Amino acid sequence: GLATALSTAGFAQDISGKVIGFSQIGSESGWRAAETAVTRQQAEERGVDLKFADAQQKQENQIKAIRGFIAQGVDAILVAPVVATGWDDVLAEANEAEIPVVLLDRGVDAPEDLYLTSVASDQVEEGRVAGQWLVDNVGDTDCNVVELQGTVGSTPAINRKQGFEEAIAGHDNITISQSQTGDFTRAKGKEVMEAFLKSSNGGADICAVYAHNDDMAVGAIQAIKDAGLKPGTDIKVVSIDAVPDIFTAIAAGEANATVELTPNMAGPAFDALAAYWANGTEPEKFIITESKLYTAENDPAGEYDRRKGLGY
Ligand code: AHR
Repeated sequence: GLATALSTAGFAQDISGKVIGFSQIGSESGWRAAETAVTRQQAEERGVDLKFADAQQKQENQIKAIRGFIAQGVDAILVAPVVATGWDDVLAEANEAEIPVVLLDRGVDAPEDLYLTSVASDQVEEGRVAGQWLVDNVGDTDCNVVELQGTVGSTPAINRKQGFEEAIAGHDNITISQSQTGDFTRAKGKEVMEAFLKSSNGGADICAVYAHNDDMAVGAIQAIKDAGLKPGTDIKVVSIDAVPDIFTAIAAGEANATVELTPNMAGPAFDALAAYWANGTEPEKFIITESKLYTAENDPAGEYDRRKGLGY
């Protein structure tokens, strides 16, 4: 019939009328707000009834929300897990209730059979891309890097650190001189950068800042300016997400590079659920999104305009 023809052709199946719970972390960053907006947009376009729960950065709130979704008997659950550990019980409960769970943008330390699939970037690769940019741009000069880490215990913080360290390994002129969490927020990024600047000869000893997300980079840029230095020139700035504000900073010469993280994790998640419901197709366990590097050379202003079309 038509449904089979459409599915054979690879067109999206109809999932209108499905009730899908989404346990979101919070709104710590511009990227996070964009993901929320895009998820709502994707749900609306597909006629999905999205039940949205904001956990305000707390895992216990996420677990409560997921238990609530299970009690309501939703058709599926999307969850962006704030930290990696502590999910086994609640995932097992969803599994027991035969409600498919899809992880968005962050991973968990739990058996893979407890979730249907995970839509996320390769976060180690993101760190490598950022680190490689620095390697390619400092040459042989000595370079002290200060690192603003993401939320402690979250997979992007763990993996982006690892990837960056891999990229700079063997380049003995590049050293991570200080590293601390800025919790993926602009305010903490600024605060921690201020402390880094104070303990590094007012910033004279810092060659670059590597921030695990753009918001912390934007906070750091403000701190660098307040210290009377030029971000992007005196201190190089490389980060991850590719949100509009970092493109503005790159266009102004105040940031140097960012690695794109698409906010559209829900689209592939809904597609995977659609195929699963249509004919039992098991999706790949890990659906990996692209990690592309952007610098002043790839038309940040043009990118900014394109992004506006995404609705954030
Ligand atoms: O999990 C993805 C990360 O979470 C984004 O890079 C960051 O901005 C967000 O808070």
